Amino acid sequence: MIYKVIAKQGNAKSAHMKTVHGEVETPVFMNVGTVAAIKGAVSTEDLRDIKTQVQLSNTYHLHVRPGDEIVKKLGGLHRFMNWDRPILTDSGGFQVFSLAGLRKIKEEGVYFNSHIDGRKIFMGPEESMQIQSNLASTIAMAFDECPGALSEREYIEQSVQRTSRWLVRCKDKIDCLNKLENTINKNQLLFGINQGGIFEDIRIRHAKEISQMNLDGYAIGGLAVGESHEEMYNILDAVVPYLPYDKPTYLMGVGTPANILEAVERGIDFFDCVYPSRNGRHGHVYTDSGKLNLFNKKYELDEAPIEDGCGCMACRAHSRAYIRHLLKAGEMLGMRLCVLHNLYFYNKMMSEIRDAIRYGDFKEYKRVKLKSMYDRQD
Ligand code: GUN
Ligand code: ZN
Repeated sequence: MIYKVIAKQGNAKSAHMKTVHGEVETPVFMNVGTVAAIKGAVSTEDLRDIKTQVQLSNTYHLHVRPGDEIVKKLGGLHRFMNWDRPILTDSGGFQVFSLAGLRKIKEEGVYFNSHIDGRKIFMGPEESMQIQSNLASTIAMAFDECPGALSEREYIEQSVQRTSRWLVRCKDKIDCLNKLENTINKNQLLFGINQGGIFEDIRIRHAKEISQMNLDGYAIGGLAVGESHEEMYNILDAVVPYLPYDKPTYLMGVGTPANILEAVERGIDFFDCVYPSRNGRHGHVYTDSGKLNLFNKKYELDEAPIEDGCGCMACRAHSRAYIRHLLKAGEMLGMRLCVLHNLYFYNKMMSEIRDAIRYGDFKEYKRVKLKSMYDRQD
């Protein structure tokens, strides 16, 4: 992997990252396809059309169904999905904690029940790395614990230390797997994950520790789990300076357009979030003048596209009135068009952010975008 910062403005940076699956320009929003599919009947062809750079999938979900060994037999995730650009897989840590029933965290890993059929599963750092190696994603995430926002300081202390020990095991395991003859992607990258709740000192200590490990990138996890936006921004202010500047940074599970603009300003490269697809499935669409709810009666006779001048498939072809009708009739096409528009909106915003950083007017771009999006709401 080659990562090169090509422009910066304050702490905001724009970089080029070369991987075996092609180049990524940052800051970038990864489109979330949890089970190797973007919800809302979006195809990989659609993703090319809306200029998606990176897709994100989940270790936990693909392990449970169809099974990572099946995916490996089918040539890995890229071939399985027919997607030749970068894919990042989340490690399962977060999903086990948010989805799986009855879990027990031990030093060796986590025992839990599958959310599909209740069967008992064990996942630890080695298992997570093995699964991600079978999936053959471009970037594997370290197996971590993501404690809730209300966790006590004492619990977070213990948890972060365990996450650090798990990280060492992840690194050893992936180094081994990348050397094996029958590994599909022998250049699989590993990103570590900073944890520490809302405690700045724990976060900073952990950031310093993992920065010594020469990983391919550094994520900040355990945010957007119930703390305030201010608390999240404060943690970013505190932590990012301790992460290597010459490696990519990733803020996991974030967020709204405003969250992304604030985090880019603080030096983040990678983002992922279910908001654009989830909102789209509910008929909520992003525009430069705020979010619209297409179920609203006021769009019944509205012949304008979701957003004038938008280049997405929905806006090129259809009116708000038609998409509203599809949504109300429960037609899948309604959701699909809204999801496509929202992902296009996010991808386009990231492209504008990159341009703004390159031309030195990111601060002004951010001010104008926030004002137009948030001063007028539907
Ligand atoms: N997605 C959002 N937050 C997290 C986190 O803290 N850890 C992991 N592994 N994934 C996440
Ligand atoms: Zn559009």
